[in-house]
Amino acid sequence: MSKLFIAGEVFHGAGSLDELKNIKGKKAVIVTGGSSMRKSGTLDKAIAYLTEAGIETQIFEGVEEDPSSATCMKGAEMIQNFQPDWIIGLGGCSAIDAAKIMWVFYEYPDADFEAMIKPFTVPVLRNKAKFIAIPSTSGTGTETTGLAVITDREKGVKYPIVSYELTPDIAIIDGEICASMPAHVTANTGLDVLTHCVEAYVSNIENNIADALSKGGLELVFDNLKEVVENPNNIQARQNMHDASFMGGLAFNNAWLGIVHSLSHQVGALYGIPHGASNAIFLPNVIRFNAQATERYPDLAKVIGKETTEELAQAIETLRSEINNQSAIKEFGISREDWDKNLDYIANNALVDPCTGFNPRVPSLEELKAIYNACYEGVVYAEEAVVAG
Ligand SMILES: [Fe+2]
Repeated sequence: MSKLFIAGEVFHGAGSLDELKNIKGKKAVIVTGGSSMRKSGTLDKAIAYLTEAGIETQIFEGVEEDPSSATCMKGAEMIQNFQPDWIIGLGGCSAIDAAKIMWVFYEYPDADFEAMIKPFTVPVLRNKAKFIAIPSTSGTGTETTGLAVITDREKGVKYPIVSYELTPDIAIIDGEICASMPAHVTANTGLDVLTHCVEAYVSNIENNIADALSKGGLELVFDNLKEVVENPNNIQARQNMHDASFMGGLAFNNAWLGIVHSLSHQVGALYGIPHGASNAIFLPNVIRFNAQATERYPDLAKVIGKETTEELAQAIETLRSEINNQSAIKEFGISREDWDKNLDYIANNALVDPCTGFNPRVPSLEELKAIYNACYEGVVYAEEAVVAG
């Protein structure tokens, strides 16, 4: 037996933000990021719908990219003072992830952040509030995952906090909200969706439902990502990418990810490289690395009209360049000297990242370093490049 972990209620489609009118409750805190939700008018719309529902609202604004535990504690304090029965994460995944951790500290003011880093240790939630996720980017699928990524700035490490307790009660997937997303964010987050679909499909967790979602999400990305980068106001394409993001999130919430994410978490924390951008650099070479351990890549190749594992890897490289994304880590201005200095550190962290355990091929430290080096230069990974450790 296995249980499908999914957001409690899912509303999707252009304009579905208005479902907030039907929420039952007394008080809500909306947690959001910089100013994009305010500027686009989405925040005001959300407040108006909640007011119509008879819900008093307070706003916590200013969650930064890659939110820190300090921001989460600050938000929790404000939430504690207001005592809401709903917490609403509105915006990019940073805002929603931070809101999830604020929720934990609201319910458990003495919770230990360090202890929660261990998977599935978040205590039972929903004693004080329930959670609504309204994403404005089509990427992490955090609206239906039990995951929140929090960064420890001092250590330069990103911690994925993993617990099904964190899976939202309500997800609102409204493509209209994404129309204001800048092209580079659209591209990076869309490539993250693509990576979720591929990694969930080949993970070592067998799950027929996740498989179908992965294939469907992958097809939507290949059919819509380029369009939405070039024509940001195409709301149908926006909704398609938003649905794909949800599908990828739902797939990996149940089948998990692999070493693309393990590798990516480290360069995100250390160098600030956008998650989807580094994923798209690592993904084709990880496909080549994993090819000997799984026969599943050709299934995905067929979804996009290709045949072989290598054709799938190349199609991803083509899509990546069509939307003007980087093809090498060095393009982010990291010197070879700096890279060599940090390589052991990031490879060791990638080896123990929670995602590594779900990869179809168990990597060695030397193999991770070889993948890192190939992707630093933007060249094809070859087994011969692995140096015996
Ligand atoms: Fe991701």
